[in-house]
Amino acid sequence: MGTVTSLFARWWNTVPALEEDEEEADATKRYRPLRKHPELFQARVPATWVAPELLEIVNACKSGNAKKPEICSALRVEVKDVYSFLCFSPEFVKLFVSEIENFYASGIPARRPNSMNNYGVIVNEIGMRPMITEFQQQYIWPIAKVLFPEEASQFDSHHSFIVRYTAAEDLGLDMHTDDSDVTFNVCLGYDFTGATLTFCGYMGAPDHRQATHVYSHEIGRAVLHLGSRRHGADDIENGTRMNLIIWSHNSAWRRAHPSRLRREYYSKEAGPPDPVCLSTSQSDKPGYTHDRDFLAYKEKPSGRASGRNRAWCPPPGKEYENFPDSDETM
Ligand SMILES: [Fe+2]
Repeated sequence: MGTVTSLFARWWNTVPALEEDEEEADATKRYRPLRKHPELFQARVPATWVAPELLEIVNACKSGNAKKPEICSALRVEVKDVYSFLCFSPEFVKLFVSEIENFYASGIPARRPNSMNNYGVIVNEIGMRPMITEFQQQYIWPIAKVLFPEEASQFDSHHSFIVRYTAAEDLGLDMHTDDSDVTFNVCLGYDFTGATLTFCGYMGAPDHRQATHVYSHEIGRAVLHLGSRRHGADDIENGTRMNLIIWSHNSAWRRAHPSRLRREYYSKEAGPPDPVCLSTSQSDKPGYTHDRDFLAYKEKPSGRASGRNRAWCPPPGKEYENFPDSDETM
């Protein structure tokens, strides 16, 4: 028992080396004198910023008695391997949103988190990396390594960003997988309708393109899932939605699984896809569609550039029975 306990303690107390500081981003330098809440830029997360439910879950995980997935009643199993929990206090949400609004008002240009989100901000690049790292290590990691012990055996870096959707800007985000090992996604505002998050299967699994769940965002509630899970942000109908997303990376796991994203490791698809799991493409982003059979189930998006796109799914040899390959016509 003593040996088991000490092994557990050693495993638990292994603090991963954090990535080395990057060169300070230009946006960080320019924004520093304009910061509204300096406490958001320090390596500190006061207990008043997190929901009591989050503390309860983290304590249950740290106790060593947690059994996946029934860690404690505060953790909601949305569907297998997708979890949600109340995460931030109203105090933190107000503070954080006001800082982001202050950054937008500053007019300082910020690099966007990805090519599909025109109104987001990489919060690491405006100086919040220390606070986010602290939150990742103290709160996300203890939960993630119980829920996803292999992918979350350690977290040694993160890519963290705000996404913002409104009916007049970006509406949603196409079906995709994340370049993360574990994704944390928390809603911070505002009033909105629509904008659900649809989950399908794991990349390369026989049910990769089968719909599994529709998650409805709530302010202050976070959803946690593996990056390899196909998902998409459904279109917003009214209002504005703002979320903070933290992509946690585990370099050791990635080194040990270099083939995790290689297409030859795909399984044969079990059957035709659910249309909701197909890349719907966006008219100003030609070539984004992933799915070779897109046109068998959906209309060609308007404004789409002509010519062959980069559709690749499923890879040759992994098609379901009677596969209607529409690739040549897109
Ligand atoms: Fe995503």
